[in-house]
Amino acid sequence: MLILGLETSCDDTGVGLVDADKRIYANLVASQLEAHRPYGGVVPEIAARAHLDVLDSLITEAMHRARIGWGDLAGVAATTGPGLIGGVMVGAMMGKAIAAARKIPFLAVNHLEAHALTVRLTDSVAFPYLLLLASGGHCQLLLAKGVGSYRLLGQTIDDAAGECFDKGAKMLGLGYPGGPLIEQAAASGNPTAFALPRPMLGRAGCDFSFSGLKTSVRVLLQGRTLTPDLVADMAASLQQAIADSLADRVVQAFKILEAEAIQPTAFVVAGGVAANQALRTRLTQLATAHALPFLAPPLDLCTDNGAMVAWAGVEKLRLGLVDPLDTSARPRWPLQQTAL
Ligand code: KG4
Ligand code: ZN
Repeated sequence: MLILGLETSCDDTGVGLVDADKRIYANLVASQLEAHRPYGGVVPEIAARAHLDVLDSLITEAMHRARIGWGDLAGVAATTGPGLIGGVMVGAMMGKAIAAARKIPFLAVNHLEAHALTVRLTDSVAFPYLLLLASGGHCQLLLAKGVGSYRLLGQTIDDAAGECFDKGAKMLGLGYPGGPLIEQAAASGNPTAFALPRPMLGRAGCDFSFSGLKTSVRVLLQGRTLTPDLVADMAASLQQAIADSLADRVVQAFKILEAEAIQPTAFVVAGGVAANQALRTRLTQLATAHALPFLAPPLDLCTDNGAMVAWAGVEKLRLGLVDPLDTSARPRWPLQQTAL
């Protein structure tokens, strides 16, 4: 059961080929980083056009590298939301066109569900598992109960964790995307140099908040010269504050599950922020303290890619969850409504 997966919801064009035996035949990503860099963030119109420019040649290249032909495909999966709508439409239309031309099933994939299911491609994880999804656009804690079945335990009430890394990096003059640059700068800094707040610490439930943290960074930097030492110390302090906030919310999620006698099989972290090593170490300790395996997909499968979409397609097709060709592209599509 070989599935072609298309990802075009943000600033990476991803094409993946994955089968039901978890073999990844190809996973090509064309980054638009350079196109957006001058603007310090993703420009939706530029993103949509860039996806359109490269998608068909990326598909051809992926199939060529995998040495497969159209006749080998059991289905085509495309991200149909949530995301920047112009880009989502490019991938969705391409997927539908291939499905129609080849008379194979079309699988409409929720981008968040693709992140959520990646760990079942890389590891053998049974449902239910606790999932922290932390990327540039999303920050939420979920109980993954099954394909198309998710319970939202908490989410950010303002910015996503990745956005906080990105905005912090911008204020420190580090560039975009901020996460990896903050991590790099933090390596030589003192995480206790600046007393940054830990938003939501100890609060009931497991919602997140990062906008106050961002404001504190701005206030503390006012009138100061950005010396390398200052940048390193602030990067380390910010990374520590974000890790503390995320860890505190995860502890709350464990408490909610314990109170309801729900025993997850694992604690999983996904999304671009999961690439952060300091955070991984912190969350590993938490999982160990709760006697749960900690799982995070390898870095290239944590950030946006086509293989995760193809895999979500495999999971859906196995259950007969095929979508009609008039499925619409959705800018917003909460994961807990995936089955709707
Ligand atoms: O999942 P992703 O590739 O795209 C979205 O769906 O948003 O996540 C991108 C986000 C960016 O905000 C980026 O700064 C962050 O993930 N990120 C990191 C690291 N690598 C990427 N944040 C912290 N540490 C990193 N090493
Ligand atoms: Zn993503």
